[in-house]
Amino acid sequence: MKNNRITRRFFIGSGLVGTFSLLNIKKSWARREELKIPVGMQKSETVKDDSYILKIHGNPKSIQLLQVTDIHFNPYRRDKKIDDTTKDIVKKLLDITQPHLLSVTGDVWNENAFGRGLMYLEQAVEFFGSLSIPWFYTWGNHDILGDYSKGHDLLASAKNSMYRGGINMGNYQVIVENESNQKLWRFVCLNTNNYGLMEEQRKWLELWSSKNINISIPTFMACHIPVYQYHTIWENKIASGVKFEKVCFEKEQGESLAYIKKIPGLKACICGHDHVNDYSGVIEGVDLIYGRATGKGGYGSDYVPKGGKLYSLYPSTGEYEWVSVTPNNKRWYPTKGTQIEKKEELPWLNELEEK
Ligand SMILES: [Fe+2]
Repeated sequence: MKNNRITRRFFIGSGLVGTFSLLNIKKSWARREELKIPVGMQKSETVKDDSYILKIHGNPKSIQLLQVTDIHFNPYRRDKKIDDTTKDIVKKLLDITQPHLLSVTGDVWNENAFGRGLMYLEQAVEFFGSLSIPWFYTWGNHDILGDYSKGHDLLASAKNSMYRGGINMGNYQVIVENESNQKLWRFVCLNTNNYGLMEEQRKWLELWSSKNINISIPTFMACHIPVYQYHTIWENKIASGVKFEKVCFEKEQGESLAYIKKIPGLKACICGHDHVNDYSGVIEGVDLIYGRATGKGGYGSDYVPKGGKLYSLYPSTGEYEWVSVTPNNKRWYPTKGTQIEKKEELPWLNELEEK
């Protein structure tokens, strides 16, 4: 392990020490046990459909998707400016990139200490709803609630939200259509809960794929926690980009890719979770892509500047391209075959924040 690698244990540990007394650390760990209840154990009371159709005007040559991830809002953080800065980053990225839709791939708030999870979620959906852009969301491991039924409903009823995960454990799809009802692109949104894509998501995926076998639209899968093969593509030098931490695939051990591959029309999988990894590579026909971490409340801006990832999707050919974007409109895409693991080799070394 190299000295300049950051571990998730470091992040979680330092966050707790800074925020809670010793007594509350114990309480916090007890609450983390609640995470073992998968989001899908509670269903929405009102949402009955697991698909959202987004109509876009005209017939654009490409669809622009902006992905933001690992937002880490925490209104109770001592430094109140941090969340405002994160909101500014998201707004600036939208201004710069002018996308058709926004993807928020999890870790939007900061757990459920003192039962505050629902309030964090309310504030988050108010913010994303105010951005005047259709947005979809996937659950992150820090997005914890006491009552997931209310969470599903809040997410589905939020302004401009395309969330439809209320009846299928947080799993759903978004289909983009033009005015002639032609299906242009699809996003399969999966809830990786606390441990990655496990048995219940695989079962859902298998059933969903078999039902959609004849509907082959260019498709992205979106989720929070990477599958094991994000590790493989780096170690086997298939991937290009930057990597400063271990791939945190949690309990997923590589079995999920076989299920993911069955998604008709699948091109790529986009995720978050590991804030200082930004790379992509194709394995078994699936492009595994890390989003660029966005939230100032999360670790990593001393290695990888906070920003977002812009995807240009070309429905007529199924091709796509991505570029990472920072709020000062610097854009970065790795030269093929480049693998950066040393800080001094970073192209943005002069822009990094001190720890
Ligand atoms: Fe995460």
